[in-house]
Amino acid sequence: MGAYTPEYRLTNSRLEELVDTSDEWIVKRTGIHERRIAQNETTWQMALSAAEKALSDAKISGEELDLIVVSTVTPDSYTPTVACVLQDKLGAKHAMAYDMNAACSGFVYATDIADSYIKAGKAKNVIVVSVERLSSIVDYTDRSTCVIFGDGAGAVVYTASEEKSGILSTYMRAEGSLGHCLFAGALPVEQDPITGDRTIDSKHRFLKMAGSDVFRFTANAVPDSIDNALKRADLNASDIDWYVLHQANLRILKMVAERYGLQKEKVYVNIDRFGNTSSASIPICLAEMKEKGLLKSGQKILISGFGGGLTYGAAVIEL
Ligand code: UT7
Repeated sequence: MGAYTPEYRLTNSRLEELVDTSDEWIVKRTGIHERRIAQNETTWQMALSAAEKALSDAKISGEELDLIVVSTVTPDSYTPTVACVLQDKLGAKHAMAYDMNAACSGFVYATDIADSYIKAGKAKNVIVVSVERLSSIVDYTDRSTCVIFGDGAGAVVYTASEEKSGILSTYMRAEGSLGHCLFAGALPVEQDPITGDRTIDSKHRFLKMAGSDVFRFTANAVPDSIDNALKRADLNASDIDWYVLHQANLRILKMVAERYGLQKEKVYVNIDRFGNTSSASIPICLAEMKEKGLLKSGQKILISGFGGGLTYGAAVIEL
């Protein structure tokens, strides 16, 4: 496991200078105190740093990788993909490499990809890198989004093994009919493809979120993914040592702890320091937990991601 987060800290008090908000509102409604923002770092540079740390932690070289999957909604370019840049920089000469996008569920979806390739015998070593430079698509005049999102990268190496531990179950779903609730445009719209109107929307690429609609969606989606991942692993909620959820809102993390009767310490939280880094949030948590010595062999972790698409999913992993 490995992570990279930029040095620069965007604090709530700095945001108070930019938009009509307050530290009190942000902390009460989200649990966020500060988030990291890339200043000079590109997406691939953050991804590379996290990937190098994960490879070093896994004690394997880039040459041993068979597959590089990068999840991101903010690639530096559509082609080459971030994964191909990493393939070159890591000297991964035997690896196939591609980017995928499942927004905030990206890490969990990419973990399912890694699991599938490994179990099909198509790959031995897979690196999943989740990286987001959300500051490049955040409108810093929109208080409903700019207080939430941050930048960073996290990476995990999955390796084939005869042991029974590893990825015990996965469960992924999507709810495309709610896609409009979390929108960021791709190609610049200069001409409406339907009406033919020529409209250049300079804010087309910016994230727009119907926050309370997404919040309502998570109330069912997150427990649904947790219940089904547990069921597929034949485990109960109390069998899990750590719940590592997408860091979207402290209130969602508390809701999960309450619903499953968990001690609050079992639900890992770092949203206070990093904000919502979309797909990068879960592997940033994992790398931080590993560095703090919280992860032990034999422990079971439940990861759950949810967000843009809308998408959601969960997996149970035994260390
Ligand atoms: O990562 C992808 C997945 N994303 C999520 O899971 C996000 C889920 N949603 C959320 O976390 C929450 O909905 C938010 C944190 C985004 C918003 O919290 P909320 O409690 O749902 O607030 P709201 O959108 O219902 O807004 C409540 C009020 C509104 O004012 P009025 O209409 O009641 O007068 C907003 O205009 O708060 C206002 N507001 C703000 N006030 C101060 C919205 N943003 C801000 C702000 N500072 N930054």
